[in-house]
Amino acid sequence: MKLLILNGPNLNLLGLREPEIYGKRDFKALEAFIRESCAEEGIACELFQSNHEGALVDKIQEAYGVFDGIVINPAAYTHTSVAILDALKAVSLPAVEVHLSDVKSREDFRQISYAGRACVKTFMGLGFEGYRQAIRFLKDYLRGESAT
Ligand code: DQA
Repeated sequence: MKLLILNGPNLNLLGLREPEIYGKRDFKALEAFIRESCAEEGIACELFQSNHEGALVDKIQEAYGVFDGIVINPAAYTHTSVAILDALKAVSLPAVEVHLSDVKSREDFRQISYAGRACVKTFMGLGFEGYRQAIRFLKDYLRGESAT
């Protein structure tokens, strides 16, 4: 089983960026946490972060036929990007959405998730742990799919 883990804009500034919302640990720590979570589950993974919408769309397109599923935190593009939604729908790989913060309890403009419409599940407000939950969920989901 091979998962693509995508992180969107400004997540590379974790630690520096609004630590009261996103925590004090940096992006390197998040990547290490994700790699560890995948290793624990015996899952191969590739991690990709970009501040550019098109780069994320390209990566989703390239995932077709290569990865079994996608974990995605589209960051601000969550609330604006029909292109990311369309790319997820186009490749039709099971995807799980993650947000470090509890977006539901934040500003009005964060209440829409385009990418979320193409995702089988969303984890939010759990910090790094949300990624582990997403990886575990996707593993079970994919196992269920291959059993049917
Ligand atoms: C975020 C929430 C988004 O609203 C925000 O734009 C981000 C990070 C999160 O992980 O909580 O950049 O996706």
